[in-house]
Amino acid sequence: MKNTKSIVSLFLAVLMLFTLALPAFATEIRIDTEILEKQWLNTEEATRGITVNPGKTESERNFSWYMDESVTSCAVEISENEDMQDAKSFTGEIITTYQGDKAAKVTVTDLEENKTYYYTCVSGDEKSEVYSFKTEDNTFSALYMSDIHICYSEEETDKLKNTSFAFAELLQKAKSKADINMILSGGDMATEGLRIEYEGLTFSRSSRELTFANVMGNHDRHSFDFKYFTNFPNEVFGPMSGYQSGNYYFTKGDVLFLVVDTNNASATAHRDMIKEAVKAHPDVKWRVVMMHHDLYGGSIPHRETENKLLRILFSPIFDEFNIDLVLMGHSHHYSVSNVIYNSENVESIENGKTVTNAKGTVYFVSTSVDRPDEDQEVTYSDWVGIGMDKLTDSYYNIIDFSPEAITVTSYYLDTDEKYMSFTLEKDDDYEPEKIGFFRKLGGILAAKLSTLYGIYVNADRYFELKEEGFEVGFFEFVF
Ligand SMILES: [Fe+2]
Repeated sequence: MKNTKSIVSLFLAVLMLFTLALPAFATEIRIDTEILEKQWLNTEEATRGITVNPGKTESERNFSWYMDESVTSCAVEISENEDMQDAKSFTGEIITTYQGDKAAKVTVTDLEENKTYYYTCVSGDEKSEVYSFKTEDNTFSALYMSDIHICYSEEETDKLKNTSFAFAELLQKAKSKADINMILSGGDMATEGLRIEYEGLTFSRSSRELTFANVMGNHDRHSFDFKYFTNFPNEVFGPMSGYQSGNYYFTKGDVLFLVVDTNNASATAHRDMIKEAVKAHPDVKWRVVMMHHDLYGGSIPHRETENKLLRILFSPIFDEFNIDLVLMGHSHHYSVSNVIYNSENVESIENGKTVTNAKGTVYFVSTSVDRPDEDQEVTYSDWVGIGMDKLTDSYYNIIDFSPEAITVTSYYLDTDEKYMSFTLEKDDDYEPEKIGFFRKLGGILAAKLSTLYGIYVNADRYFELKEEGFEVGFFEFVF
């Protein structure tokens, strides 16, 4: 009898161990370079630059892709069936690029939550392969990454393929780590802003099957292709908007995403867009800004003057409109700030911590995919709650969104081990802070001055581009 009991106990123990081990199988990282090779070598399909951007809400998606010069019509066909039966067709707009070929921009509407849709991009008589994407409800996860830096180099011939594969492999990892259907990308997707780099960014099926929300980085601005490969919802071209992109916003679940092109020096444009978006969606619970430039990391001394200036311009706006989380990049140095209000720490952020009803904003800077900075000293500011151990480390970040909470979890890019996580949650006791009269006024005045500075920056860039041989209109570009 005793023996039977021992055998049963042993069996139960083994069963328990096996059950505990199951999540490890569920999160096994899968990278399939063979399939990426096939996709890469299928040149005609790989170089279409097919991108699925978010629409105004979850019921829409915006598509863009490149087409030949001779093409005169474009459409997206969309179906709930993989064989494209009962497909609906949405036509769109065609833009002639500075290179003389075409870019298609199509918006698909009337999508329902929690469904898989199949699509093909139609350029004249030609159809792309069939891809799919998923819609979600108010609980969803996204990959956040900045400074992907797909890079074309005449000297290093493999650079384009290597950097494109690094990103495609990251997407495969992130998809096996979590149920993600969206990429949030904080700028510098391309190093020289070239079409060939955006083609590399979007060559893989993984990229085309995730909704790709991105913002322009300073490197994306080096050339003119960013405006052709993107198709943003609610795009607002305020005072001194960058020539290639305005700010834009969209909602997904209970989150209002506010995407700010910080290459545009005019903080008036940024404040106006955020004000418009918040007014249009006053009851959406979470407000998340995505922008390229870093504000509070402070880890690169020679950039501190720029950061200081940007803090003067942006922090009153983020305080006024009660932004919960700001996603950033640019420095390539990972940092998570404490909860900040009025440029002061109001609550600490530590690994594993949950902050309830935060009285301010958390500023989060992602590392780069391909370009860790190895030669800089770490001098994190007092605002930083969590920094990185070694500057050569890179992490990728999964953000889980629900009406109750936002959780950011970062993983080592090389080992996929967890590095840290933190959670922001809100309950019925949440009371947004109210900005003081003089701080708000000071912010508005500083924003007006920055619009003047923007004229100078844009004029400088205009003359640079003219020298490089680009045909751009002075008034179109500078104002
Ligand atoms: Fe960068």
